[in-house]
Amino acid sequence: MIIAVDGPTASGKGTIAKRLAAHLGVPCLDTGLLYRAVGRQVAINGGNPDIAADALAACNFPDKLLEDEILRTEESGSLASRASVHPEVREALFKRQRAFAEQPGGAVLDGRDIGTVIAPDADVKLFITASVQSRARRRWLEMVEKKLDHEEEIPLSEIEKDVVARDARDINRKDAPLKAAPDALVIDTTTFDREAAFEMVLEAVQEALNKR
Ligand code: DC
Repeated sequence: MIIAVDGPTASGKGTIAKRLAAHLGVPCLDTGLLYRAVGRQVAINGGNPDIAADALAACNFPDKLLEDEILRTEESGSLASRASVHPEVREALFKRQRAFAEQPGGAVLDGRDIGTVIAPDADVKLFITASVQSRARRRWLEMVEKKLDHEEEIPLSEIEKDVVARDARDINRKDAPLKAAPDALVIDTTTFDREAAFEMVLEAVQEALNKR
């Protein structure tokens, strides 16, 4: 069983995906982490994520980079978003994601294009979203709690701007833009609390399992 969990930045999709995977006893892949590793590797190489050749060269990042906490910073997210617009980069990361999705026993993958490009054949497709304000606030609280970014504390208004810019880039890119698959269940976590959202997710998954 393949479960696709897509949505914009800080929508809570990562938490839902991990929880769901644990509940079902299947592995989970945070595909954003792969793009973050590419973005970070471009910076390590001294390249520019807006240049396709630089971004493509960074796709053979070492696996140990995936464990680096620096990938969780706003800066890495922004580098990832810029590197991810290049079709060459998306193509280079496709096989790895598809192989993960196809593993026996099933898998949960979260990202932007799982239900539309990586696994259009997914058994369940979820699109998790929330208002810009609530996503920015969530991201800001997370940063304050974890003190991930080493810069001085970034004001909430700055994070909000970054969320808007990231949404625009992810939605408007030509290749595999961020959008809900027509057959995805859209869950807005602005109006639902975490538990209620997860209940809805479990129900959708159960329904899909019953149909098999
Ligand atoms: O989910 P995230 O914030 O870790 O993702 C970081 C960036 O990576 C996001 O702004 C766009 C890109 N991305 C993508 O293009 N496709 C995916 N499946 C996952 C992430």
